[in-house]
Amino acid sequence: MSSVACSFVTSNASWDRETLPEGEEKKQAVRDMFDAIAPRYDLVNRVMTFRLDVRWRRRAVRDLALPAGSTVLDLAAGTGDLCIDLREAGLTPISIDLSYGMLAADRSGAPRVQADILRLPLADDAVDGVTCGFALRNLIDLGEFFAELARVVRPGGRIALLDVGVPRNRVIKFGNDIYFGKVVPRIGAALSDGPAYRYLPKSVAYLPEPGELVAMLGSAGFGDASHHLLSGGLTQLLVGTRDT
Ligand SMILES: C[S@@+](CC[C@H](N)C(=O)[O-])C[C@H]1O[C@@H](n2cnc3c(N)ncnc32)[C@H](O)[C@@H]1O
Repeated sequence: MSSVACSFVTSNASWDRETLPEGEEKKQAVRDMFDAIAPRYDLVNRVMTFRLDVRWRRRAVRDLALPAGSTVLDLAAGTGDLCIDLREAGLTPISIDLSYGMLAADRSGAPRVQADILRLPLADDAVDGVTCGFALRNLIDLGEFFAELARVVRPGGRIALLDVGVPRNRVIKFGNDIYFGKVVPRIGAALSDGPAYRYLPKSVAYLPEPGELVAMLGSAGFGDASHHLLSGGLTQLLVGTRDT
């Protein structure tokens, strides 16, 4: 068995345990998981969200509300879907991701950098904005991440961060729990990798409550940060402006 396959077996074990991994173990497991699911990542996304993911990313770019020509880092860019939307909006995206497999599957044409987004290889105030799609729950320290955003985004620059949400309506939440807990892992197993898509519903537990996320962004340097539920709360969007 190759070393890549060996490490993926380790990552599967991490997701199948009762207790989710933390720290360096989580980072390694996340990277191995995305390396493994990269080839069919886009297909599974479209199928499991009925293409709503396309709409959610476009909303993030719209709410970023930056003028054409602005430079935007797409962090945890994966296969580059947000970079495509950013470019269509007249912005200049740069893609950064930890997983070589995901970067290799990127067909956006944006410049690509392999790096940990908790340690960005950029100078202070280097960019006009940041987008980040569906990766907050994969990070090992959200406080560090928000501080890093405040460091690299220029004063007056903007951020738009998407992640899965928890619907407030009890009926929608019930349906969503069944769909993500029972149906999505089967779709994932059929089209890609079962354990990786069993991680998806579990990983929501890593995310703080909306109010806490907004407060964390406020203390990091995005004083006007706001939180929005999309599609009845299936997804959440955080937007903010870097304090001047
Ligand atoms: C669910 S995918 C989202 C990809 C893309 N943003 C999208 O909207 O489809 C999460 C991505 O986060 C990346 N990621 C997780 N932790 C990271 C880290 N510490 N630094 C950089 N990328 C990371 C993974 O490699 C993966 O590509």
